[in-house]
Amino acid sequence: MIVTGKLSKMNVEVFKKILDPRPLYSVLKSRQYSQNADDIFKFYDDQPSHMLELKEKYRTLDEKDYNRFISKRAMKREPALTRQITTLSYNVSKEMMSLAEGMPNEAIFPFTRLEMSTRSGESLVLEEKELATALQYLPSQGLPSLLKELRQFQQDLHRPPPLSRDVIVTNGAQHGIYQCVEMLMDPGDPIITTEFTYTGIHSALKPYQPEIIGIPEDENGLIAETLDSVLKERLARGLKMPRLLYFIPTGNNPTGTVISVERRRQIYELACKYDFLLVEDDPYMFLNYNKASIPSFLSLDVCGRVIRLDSVSKVISSGLRAGWLTAPTALMHRAELHAQAELLHSCTLAQTILLQLFSNRSALASHLLSTRSFYELRRNALSAALRGIEGLADWSEPNAGLFHWVRVRGVEDVYNMVFHVAFQRGLILIPGQAFLYDSGATCQYIRLAFSKINVNNMETAIRYLADIIREEQKLVKQPKRLATER
Ligand SMILES: Cc1ncc(COP(=O)(O)O)c(C=O)c1O
Repeated sequence: MIVTGKLSKMNVEVFKKILDPRPLYSVLKSRQYSQNADDIFKFYDDQPSHMLELKEKYRTLDEKDYNRFISKRAMKREPALTRQITTLSYNVSKEMMSLAEGMPNEAIFPFTRLEMSTRSGESLVLEEKELATALQYLPSQGLPSLLKELRQFQQDLHRPPPLSRDVIVTNGAQHGIYQCVEMLMDPGDPIITTEFTYTGIHSALKPYQPEIIGIPEDENGLIAETLDSVLKERLARGLKMPRLLYFIPTGNNPTGTVISVERRRQIYELACKYDFLLVEDDPYMFLNYNKASIPSFLSLDVCGRVIRLDSVSKVISSGLRAGWLTAPTALMHRAELHAQAELLHSCTLAQTILLQLFSNRSALASHLLSTRSFYELRRNALSAALRGIEGLADWSEPNAGLFHWVRVRGVEDVYNMVFHVAFQRGLILIPGQAFLYDSGATCQYIRLAFSKINVNNMETAIRYLADIIREEQKLVKQPKRLATER
């Protein structure tokens, strides 16, 4: 059992001093944020009539339909009987005797008590028996009480159209990405992504040698019209059609774009029209600085085409390695088979901590509101500092996420600038090609993260950057020397 209680007043003060050096709460008081949990927990459209029209126009996928999306490799997976028994034993009366399970005996676990405290003064206390449970094996899908909480969370936040869906706990969104690739990609398959996207999908895809269909973005995110014309042409030319679109609709990493509501509907319709599934990777959902609530793709999913990846990495803890995948039940079963083979289940202790955090929604809401406020302040500070490179580069303020995406003028490829010039001057940057499938391509962009750098150092860092860009611009203007020249 998890015990929640207030820390003693003295402990709260000590914790605040040690752990809370930032003026978050004063920002909260003076800003436009409401303390209403509904504002941060709303990812659905109040008038879903447009989507209901789609439901009339396109068929909802049924269990057999999903088979055409499953990779040949994933098709070969079979359930492990031992894992099925673990799931069963979680759901039967404790009086039953078992000679079945190969679980270790908790009596040999060396830990007897765990206490964790939060900044807001709550505590998680696990005494010996509860701690033993939190350190024991689980069914592959996840801790049953957490699954219950997460199902309700998804329902409340996204209000997805009715369809048989379920969740599985993952080790963060990267794990979900890997599961989707393994489950849905065959070698050489085409896959749609935004032109620049999170490197983790590329890492997962590389062994499959896929054909990347990279779609450009504008300030409203992935351009639906371009996607439509690219797919129309592929169809006309008889090329293999993609079965998957992977994207980050809110706060694309690295570009920081948020796909507009209109675009979301268009993209969803394209998925129905050209028959592909959408992998909605949304770790920055709570870091949308536009504030206006935006419907998730899950909330639009009238035909059963969305696999949604959630993660607590950016707003609660990245080292907890905790997230969850939401998908139509037929696909969820596949993900579970993958988990059985890959890791048995995600860490029980991490899931126990997550359960504690998610079962107090109002505390979670206020943490998320202050987290968004915290990062927004940093985004604004970096935007202000970037005036220092005016005339040398172009950028627009990111609407969500943790990054500014900057195009350097007069430098065709930033690689040398990042790895030689900047590094020597003590500034670490990421070159834009890191977010291309072909990381050897030339690229004019750099990504600047505002999440961790000391706010007081931002102006200095950008002043360095201005010098670095000037130096690189001069270097690239010099005529190229032959390797044999002295
Ligand atoms: C878009 C995106 N997806 C997934 C991840 C990995 O997240 P997690 O820690 O949940 O695996 C990141 C981390 O940077 C990310 O930016």
